[in-house]
Amino acid sequence: MAMTQDEMKQAVARAALEYVEADTIIGIGTGSTANYFIDYLAEIKTSIAGTVASSEASAERLRKHGIEVLDLNNVGEISVYVDGADETNRQAHLVKGGGGALTREKIVAAVAKKFVCIVDSTKVVDVLGAFPLPIEVIPMARSYVARRLVALGGEPVYREGFVTDNGNVILDVHGLQIDNAPEFEQILNNLTGVVTNGLFAMRPADVVLIGSETGVTTL
Ligand code: 5RP
Repeated sequence: MAMTQDEMKQAVARAALEYVEADTIIGIGTGSTANYFIDYLAEIKTSIAGTVASSEASAERLRKHGIEVLDLNNVGEISVYVDGADETNRQAHLVKGGGGALTREKIVAAVAKKFVCIVDSTKVVDVLGAFPLPIEVIPMARSYVARRLVALGGEPVYREGFVTDNGNVILDVHGLQIDNAPEFEQILNNLTGVVTNGLFAMRPADVVLIGSETGVTTL
């Protein structure tokens, strides 16, 4: 019987346990795939030194399992960061932020020595941009940034009724074809009022694990 997307997420989340180093602090992503990883991590929770979470939602799930969640400012080193993505190309450049947690995700990814991205095979693309690119924006700059994004060729859509963990808003940018992700990430970073954009290309994933019908492979 064919595997469902959920079963592929479970398989890839379990495979990421191999990257968990004993007695170190683990960075934890956000979303349904990361949730499966949290649930599997609970099985080996006594072997790790603690976690840093990329969202309030993940922190709550970790605590429910009795896994310690630390403040990043009190942590020297994160050995590995495990998180999902909305899209990955073959260079391990990612689009993230479908769940709106992109800013804290990018911070934890920046600190981590290794970034292991866990996706099901539907997330692998040739060109990034079919999934609308999330951009976290300071609320008063929303219209200004939206106009700048239109000038860059995108179609920004305000994610209505959504406020990030940092008190900001999200613009989801449709209609992009992102050929040079590191360059476009920097262009977006330079827009005044943008807190974070969902391209993870200047610091790509170090390992992308892909759950597919035939098992888990590495990009
Ligand atoms: C949240 C993210 C997630 O990693 C991304 O949305 C993938 O989610 P899922 O594992 O539920 O498909 O970036 O901000």
